[in-house]
Amino acid sequence: MAHDKSSILQPPLLSGFLFLLGRNVALGQSTNQSDTFQNWYSHNAVDGDPGIPDSPISELTQTCTHTPPDTPDGWWTVMLSNAAAVFRILIYNRREPSRPVCCADRLIGFTLEAFKQTTTKVFTYTDPNPTAQSIYTVIVPANITDPIDTIKISKSDASPILTLCEVFIFGETACPSGKFGLECERDCNCADRQENCFVSTGGCPSGCAAGYTGEDCYTPCSEGSYGVDCDRTCSEHCKGNGNNCSIDTGHCTGGCEAGYIPPLCDDQCPEKTFGQDCKENCSSACLDGLCHHKTGVCDRCPIGYIGDFCDQVCSLYMFGEGCNQNCSIHCLDQLCNHQTGICDNCTMGRKGEYCEVEIFAAQSGEDGDDTAVIGAVVGTILGVIIVTIIVIFFVWRHRRNRSEDNQNLKQSWTKKRNRETSAKTKSGSSSASTLRPAAEAKAGRLGQRKEEHKQSDSEAQSSPMSSTRLEIARRFR
Ligand SMILES: *[C@@H]1O[C@H](CO)[C@@H](O)[C@H](O)[C@H]1NC(C)=O
Ligand SMILES: *[C@@H]1O[C@H](CO)[C@@H](O)[C@H](O)[C@H]1NC(C)=O
Ligand SMILES: *[C@@H]1O[C@H](CO)[C@@H](O)[C@H](O)[C@H]1NC(C)=O
Ligand SMILES: *[C@@H]1O[C@H](CO)[C@@H](O)[C@H](O)[C@H]1NC(C)=O
Ligand SMILES: *[C@@H]1O[C@H](CO)[C@@H](O)[C@H](O)[C@H]1NC(C)=O
Ligand SMILES: *[C@@H]1O[C@H](CO)[C@@H](O)[C@H](O)[C@H]1NC(C)=O
Repeated sequence: MAHDKSSILQPPLLSGFLFLLGRNVALGQSTNQSDTFQNWYSHNAVDGDPGIPDSPISELTQTCTHTPPDTPDGWWTVMLSNAAAVFRILIYNRREPSRPVCCADRLIGFTLEAFKQTTTKVFTYTDPNPTAQSIYTVIVPANITDPIDTIKISKSDASPILTLCEVFIFGETACPSGKFGLECERDCNCADRQENCFVSTGGCPSGCAAGYTGEDCYTPCSEGSYGVDCDRTCSEHCKGNGNNCSIDTGHCTGGCEAGYIPPLCDDQCPEKTFGQDCKENCSSACLDGLCHHKTGVCDRCPIGYIGDFCDQVCSLYMFGEGCNQNCSIHCLDQLCNHQTGICDNCTMGRKGEYCEVEIFAAQSGEDGDDTAVIGAVVGTILGVIIVTIIVIFFVWRHRRNRSEDNQNLKQSWTKKRNRETSAKTKSGSSSASTLRPAAEAKAGRLGQRKEEHKQSDSEAQSSPMSSTRLEIARRFR
């Protein structure tokens, strides 16, 4: 057929009216009629297609019903699988403006009956119009609230034939729990899973379940998003092309990249673990057992170790954190402990853990320090003794020289007295002797002074002090 049958149904279904008017509960339901003329079957009136005006007979036979002509009893009936609260009924007549004298007037004065539980009539409508209508609109009074499951349309006694091109019955039915749609064929996606959605719209009082959006809660989140209102984003660490996760839970469909915690894959592996699903333990050789969440490479190594997994000790000549320190050049062969840097042995002339102490060349051996101290003490004592002896010697010599001088002095006095004595005995006279003694004494005193002077000159040459000075000068020369 050239036309689009949905164009007739869609506008009321998708508009806000839908909720007030309900959905077409007649669509595809069971039908029957008093008898069928040719192939104008009863179900043609619930196929959702009212046909288009002035269609050729060949098309009408496929979209309208027709009871055999001139039968006293002409009726059509529809039985709803789910009883519905019916608000309004639309009946499409044959619409043939080019054939005004035929056909459309067969519906004049029809009767419509609504039943609950198949047989209990709750509502009757009789067409009051004197002329044929293209579309009849039957409004069910608001005080009719019983669920209706059967509707029967009968021709008037005056009409030879009952013909219907479409019967829309707008109402609201209760779909089975968790279903909605014209045929209750769709699953509700309500946030509250116990709750039933609106049968006509699929909307939910509690809002849409995680993973679904739209007025009908029927549109899944677009790829890469999930959750309530689809406002969350799949982890970029989902394995594969990323952005592929469950629309409701966000669990990555293909698992996580190595280094992330399943199933959301948002967070890095917990401390001390790494790899696919964080199932691997970091090497115990890593400092504090910490490693890279993807590769397992240690974050840091303990002192004295190196390598991605801290499984190598420092190379020769190196030690310390990161093995970036050189062993001391005073270590023998520059070899030291890879952790502490303590020398294995020292080079000659060095000692201490790091061979940082220099040993004096004269002293050797383990107790060189003690020898040095003893040597210093003994040397000092000896020096003091020697100096003392020297001092004592010179003091002694000085004293001896002085006593020799005194003797010389005594000897000279003795000689002088002897000369004076001999001079007195030679003069003999008392007068002269009274005068002379003074001159003699004066001359004697003068002579003594000359003697003394001579004596002191010779003393100057052989003086004990000057010889001491010479001695000291000679010693220190
Ligand atoms: C349809 O109506 C005819 C005539 O009354 C009846 O014989 C037939 O059993 C009915 N079919 C169904 C499925 O009810
Ligand atoms: C519905 O209301 C109409 C009048 O508006 C009345 O005639 C009819 O009896 C009422 N039907 C029921 C079932 O109450
Ligand atoms: C997302 O994952 C599912 C399940 O593994 C797979 O069938 C689908 O092809 C993936 N989509 C993309 C875009 O990779
Ligand atoms: C990782 O360590 C835990 C305990 O620390 C142990 O139970 C588990 O078996 C280890 N896993 C592997 C793969 O070695
Ligand atoms: C270690 O020695 C090398 C040369 O042997 C030198 O280039 C380097 O700077 C030294 N490193 C340190 C930390 O002293
Ligand atoms: C280094 O010292 C150790 C003892 O501390 C000794 O056994 C070893 O022979 C020494 N090595 C050399 C080369 O002197």
